[in-house]
Amino acid sequence: MRAVRLHELGGPDALRIEELADPICDDDDVLVRLTFAALNRRDVFITRGMYPGIALPSTLGADGAGVRADTGENVVIDPMLHWGNDPHVWAEGAQVLGMPRDGTLADAIAIPKQNVYPMPAHLTADQAAALPLAGLTAYRALITRGRAMMGETVLVTGIGGGVQSFVMQFALALGATVIATSSSDAKLANARALGAQHTVNYRSNPDWYKDLRKLPAIDLAVDSAGGEAFSRAIDAVRPGGRVVTYGGTTATSNVRLFSVFWKHLDILGSSMGSPRDFTDMLAFVSRHQLRPVIDRIFPVTRIIDAFKHLEASEQCGKIVIDLSH
Ligand SMILES: NC(=O)c1ccc[n+]([C@@H]2O[C@H](COP(=O)([O-])OP(=O)(O)OC[C@H]3O[C@@H](n4cnc5c(N)ncnc54)[C@H](OP(=O)(O)O)[C@@H]3O)[C@@H](O)[C@H]2O)c1
Repeated sequence: MRAVRLHELGGPDALRIEELADPICDDDDVLVRLTFAALNRRDVFITRGMYPGIALPSTLGADGAGVRADTGENVVIDPMLHWGNDPHVWAEGAQVLGMPRDGTLADAIAIPKQNVYPMPAHLTADQAAALPLAGLTAYRALITRGRAMMGETVLVTGIGGGVQSFVMQFALALGATVIATSSSDAKLANARALGAQHTVNYRSNPDWYKDLRKLPAIDLAVDSAGGEAFSRAIDAVRPGGRVVTYGGTTATSNVRLFSVFWKHLDILGSSMGSPRDFTDMLAFVSRHQLRPVIDRIFPVTRIIDAFKHLEASEQCGKIVIDLSH
């Protein structure tokens, strides 16, 4: 089988496509023949050495969909390994698929049975492959941790991000009002076309955070950019509101503590999600017939270009990899 392997750090250019033997399944595993995978920011971070516990060589990729070899069923993979028994927090030793355990950028994968779920019936395999890591992270951040509700207003910072595109879709499906920010007017136009009611460009408009005050009061902000996006989100939410962070793409953040305590805010951290979150996310996506926002589908032979496209934040939504080309 073909696999996208990383042997040493060096950014996307260090990736290699190699021929390997099919993976060997343990008693707890099943073999899945993958048809599509998708990229996440962590894949790029790993190539740059910006991720904890890097062990190489490894096959990258957390997202995948394909066919279960023993049953012929169309399946999607939950990339959260060894979450543990506590729904509130993952156990020590929990891992994300795709380094150190070999991931989904390959023609086949050996994966624990409990991480394999039936593909939502309304999705094609490329759409299903775009769903797992970002959909899971978005679901837990917005709904399990953020407790978003119908009628609330949700601020989604950096709408071009793969996870944030799901946060917006899920919030709209719940019946919330969405305020989306982005560095790109084209991405904001896309967000409006998908249903976002208010949009703000944080790059071209230096007063973007002041403009938030002219919009409906923000009940919940969901951020993964960190830096100014996170600190401004804390300033922007209404008294008694919530702010969820699941990432820090730009940097650490200088938070005005006065805003936190004077407004009685809940600041909530979230990462990936439990098996329950994954099951609930799939059910939510099926119930609302949601389809992931796909930016582009790259053939696996152009994997380095796909990683560079993600690294440059050129995408709007998920970057999918066709493993058959
Ligand atoms: N904790 C977890 O379990 C978990 C899971 C998934 C992801 N993450 C983390 O979450 C982050 C996003 O992941 P992803 O895969 O969705 O990444 P991605 O698709 O590469 O998204 C990056 C987006 O961040 C936005 N951004 C960058 N600088 C910004 C700023 N100053 N203000 C507002 N937005 C800004 C940009 O949005 P625009 O292009 O619209 O400007 C960019 O498109 C990463 O740091 C990742 O490591 C964590």
